[in-house]
This record gives sequence, structure tokens and C-alpha cells, in this order.
Amino acid sequence: MRIAFSYAPGKIILAGEHAVVYGHPAISLSIDRGVRIKVQERTHLSGPIGPTLKATGLGFVGCVIPGVDGEGPLVLRQALERLVELLGERVRDLDFTAESAIPGGRGLGSSAALSVAMIRGAKQYFGEPLSKDEEARHALELEKIFHGSPSGIDHTVVSHGGLICYQRAQEPKIEPILMSRPLSFAIGIAGPHGGTLKAVEALSVRASRHPERFKHIFEGIANLVGEMKESLKNGQLAAVGELMNVNQGYLNALSVSTVELENLCGIARGCGALGAKLTGAGGGGAVIALVEEDPASVVTAFEKAGFLAFSTTCESKEKLEA
Ligand code: MEV
Repeated sequence: MRIAFSYAPGKIILAGEHAVVYGHPAISLSIDRGVRIKVQERTHLSGPIGPTLKATGLGFVGCVIPGVDGEGPLVLRQALERLVELLGERVRDLDFTAESAIPGGRGLGSSAALSVAMIRGAKQYFGEPLSKDEEARHALELEKIFHGSPSGIDHTVVSHGGLICYQRAQEPKIEPILMSRPLSFAIGIAGPHGGTLKAVEALSVRASRHPERFKHIFEGIANLVGEMKESLKNGQLAAVGELMNVNQGYLNALSVSTVELENLCGIARGCGALGAKLTGAGGGGAVIALVEEDPASVVTAFEKAGFLAFSTTCESKEKLEA
């Protein structure tokens, strides 16, 4: 029996989430945890037509089968149907088994990683080449099912890997950033957010009530993204951390932070983190804390406060490939 394996990493956003939806630049990087997928011929032959998806670690259990008579969360069933439309009816004969090391709904790119890994896995199974362009196009279609009208930053960084500056456009601008040293983070997990789609929509309603105020905040975020890019290139981690703190202040002003996320930021800064902020849509999710060297003390402090936590180290892709 033919079997294919694939992998795609999760991501964090160092600066610029939400503003990126409005065309401003943002900085994101892939992390050393992600979604692994095994693809094989469908074994679940009775009942509705596949493909099927069995997953662990993504915040749901059980088997997902698309179609009106299918099983599992609607959004995943719709994503599987979209995958069939993108790659052909032959995908109905496939079983996907996904194992995720990134918790779902926490702003760590689980849906983008799942999308990219499924596309890679299916193409690998069919023995067909997959260009970066095709991968990104298909992943965006799946991401639209998960997030409505996403900026595209999540699937782009997951597909590209490493550290990038991203700007939404008809032809998105993707600028790899070459860091002079690796970045170490402690990541603290808060409760799940209410979904990126809802967070983005609610923010646009608030922004429409105070267009001038929100315009200034988005411009402030865009300016700090520019500064952070230079600090990353020059290895000035203290400056990167300070700019993360400033970005967190802006995100709070946008009302996408929560008491839990602010608490996690406070814990991290109290333990000597260079900077801490929420990552992704907010309203729950996760906090990333940049540390000078060893993230262990911040991870322990998060855990002592009752939060799930882990550490991650990231390098620019160009460095990894060197
Ligand atoms: C989600 O990871 C980041 C947001 O900016 C939404 C988007 O870019 O589509 C909140």
C-alpha cells in the first residue's frame, strides 16, 4: 500500500498582526513544532465518501469525513471538500492522519500548518511535484475556509519557513529576513481564541466607529515593524523585545488582548524576558516571550501560574539551509 508523509511548521507573529489585514507589513517566523501527516489509501470504505482526516493534538478528536452526511467539525469537512475541488476527485480515496504538536485555536498557525501539510501530503502521495506558487495558492483557498478573508501571512510563512516580512497585496510582498543570531522564545498558552475570522470582523466594526484613531494605531504598528526588521538584521535583541512590548500595547488598544494574555506578558517580563506579546488574532491564544538565552525560567514561571508552556528556537531559513 502506498503511504506518503508530510510536515508543515507552526508560526508566530513577532509584530504586525491585524494591521497586516489592512495592507501593512508584519513579521512572522516558522517554529520548530508543527503538523505531521500520513496519507494512505482510504480504509473507511462504508458510509459517506472521503477523504477522511483523523487528528490528534488539534483540539478535536475523532474522524472527519466531508459531505452533508459526514462527521466532525463543519469547517474541517468544508476544508476537505475544498481540497477535493483543488486536487481532484481522486483525493476522496485518501485517509489523512494528522498529528499536531501545536495546539489549535491559539494563534500558532495550526490551520495553516494543517492546510500546507495536507496539500504536500496529497501531492507526495500522487507522486507529483508541487511548486511553492501552487502550494501557496491552494493553501490560501483552505485558509479562506478557516478564516474568511485572511491576509495570507499564516500560510505564507508556514510554506516559506524561516523569518519573513510579509505585506498583503495582489502580488504579496515576501521579504526573507536574515538574522545574525537565532531567536529563543517561551510560549505560554492561554484559553482558545474565539476564531480569527470573528476577531478580525469585530475589529473592523470597532475601526469603522473610530477610523482616525485606528488608522494611527495601524500606522504606529507599521512603523515599529520597519524598526524591528532592522533590529533583527543587526541582532539587536533588546530592541526587538522592546518593540514587541510596544506592539502589545497597540494590540491592547485594539481590544484584542485579554486579562489572561496581559498576565502572561507580565509574568514573562517579570522573569527577565526581553519582550512579550500575544501572537495572532488575540482574544485568547498564546503569548510569545523573547529571551536573551535560555527560555527555561520563563517556561517554568508560566507553568507555575497554571499555563501550558513550551520553548522554541528559530533561525532564518537561509541560515538553516547554509
Ligand atoms: C492571524 O494569525 C493574524 C491576523 O492578522 C489575521 C490575518 O492576518 O489574516 C489576526
